[in-house]
Amino acid sequence: MAQKQLSDDLVTRISALCEGEDDVIAKMATISCELYHAVDGYDWVGFYRVTEPQLLKIGPYQGGHGCLTIPFSKGVCGAAARLAATQLVDDVNAFEGHIACSSSTQSELVLPIFDKSGTVIAVLDIDSDSPAFFSSEDAATLETLMATLFTQ
Ligand code: SME
Repeated sequence: MAQKQLSDDLVTRISALCEGEDDVIAKMATISCELYHAVDGYDWVGFYRVTEPQLLKIGPYQGGHGCLTIPFSKGVCGAAARLAATQLVDDVNAFEGHIACSSSTQSELVLPIFDKSGTVIAVLDIDSDSPAFFSSEDAATLETLMATLFTQ
């Protein structure tokens, strides 16, 4: 049954499922699936990958169809990639340059994904149809999880 928020159990399950896996796409697909189906309020979960300089391209995701490409200069995802910093947006309507793939999205949490060398290789984008759905604790928990899964 879906839960209302990110839990320690979910983090532990994702870590266990990805244990020993070194294929980046396999991990992205598994993480997207687990987060999307586990948390009631995560209405779109997926990765955009850095496929050429200053450009993000859609990767594994769950939810309605997402934009295929996002330049670093656009949207919440572009900001996370450009600034190499997590973006927690309580109200997407107040975010200058937000890309509305779905008009129902109200809040977003986007994390940069780093490889071992500290290079941004992707972003994890989680969108909610509820305003201010994400907390700074969620952001910190997911940052730690992503660092564990992609930099080791
Ligand atoms: N929310 C993103 C766009 C991607 S979709 O919502 C799937 C943004 O503004 O960066």
